[in-house]
Amino acid sequence: MKIIAYAVREDEKAAFAQWQGENPDIEVKLVSTELTVASLEEARGFDAIVAFQTGEYPADLFDRMQAMGIKDLSVRNVGVDNLNLASAKQNGITITNVPAYSPNAVAEFAVSQVLKLLRNAKAYDRKISQHDFRWAPNVAGEINGKTVGVLGTGRIGQVMIKIMQGFGAKIVAYDPFPNPDLAKQGIYLDSPDDVLKQADIVSLHVPATKDNFHLINQDTIAEMRDGAIIVNVSRGALIDTTALVTAVKNGKLAGAVLDTYENEASFFNHDLRGQTLSDPLLTEMLSMDEILLTPHIAFYTDIAVGNMVRVSLDSAKDVLTTGTAPTVVVG
Ligand code: COI
Repeated sequence: MKIIAYAVREDEKAAFAQWQGENPDIEVKLVSTELTVASLEEARGFDAIVAFQTGEYPADLFDRMQAMGIKDLSVRNVGVDNLNLASAKQNGITITNVPAYSPNAVAEFAVSQVLKLLRNAKAYDRKISQHDFRWAPNVAGEINGKTVGVLGTGRIGQVMIKIMQGFGAKIVAYDPFPNPDLAKQGIYLDSPDDVLKQADIVSLHVPATKDNFHLINQDTIAEMRDGAIIVNVSRGALIDTTALVTAVKNGKLAGAVLDTYENEASFFNHDLRGQTLSDPLLTEMLSMDEILLTPHIAFYTDIAVGNMVRVSLDSAKDVLTTGTAPTVVVG
């Protein structure tokens, strides 16, 4: 049995080595390139692929995998919005993901960024670096007493709720499939719009689908409370970024925590030091104290990285040996 892993980073290699030690009969080849139709040639003779990228996995990739006799693609992350799943299905390729590598990694990061935003961290960092040690005018806000709106109460949303409740926030939430335990707390509202209307801090914890493209847009922002904050550690496509930046600039929103951006693929996790960014909106957000932008790092903890490698390899092995895995998305 032979598995090839694409886009392997230095920080993942120890986890790959550990799994290889526990599975000596399986050949695992590591390559640093991302998976594309061109780089797929490296997978000739392998049975399964393990991959990780924010860029697209296009339809013809799966046509080629099928022609090469590769049966499985196991991604080392949770989101599958960048995969052409219809093509994978058509070609009989099994797709697996890692649904819960560490909900805490993502929720803890989201909360830490909310705290930084409320505490005016960007403004103070700049002031302090210039030896301006004055307090004013950057009076901070507190989470305690605020209403936090959570859209999506899956694993990450649930941790977000627990942490925010620990700070003393009131929670309102929406999910088309309410969690029975959370429902007992009476936190669910009837619609996402109801959550947007009531929350001081709105946090998005839903996958990107066709239906929720630009869920946050000019119209939905207009429904939100004046001075509200938006938190997106999920998928860039959920927000019309131009509408968001406009709302922050005109004072409708107090700010945003963005660990993802709809046009992130050619920027995030790339070393662009010394280069002028070819995206004026991204440049503008980086210059704004009210927007905390990070390059999709909420997931990036030691625990999560280890789980992503282990679970994706286990899934590929399961699919090759039994035809399925607990983490199957398509197949
Ligand atoms: C995911 O697991 O889907 C993430 O959002 C991590 C990302 C860097 C691909």
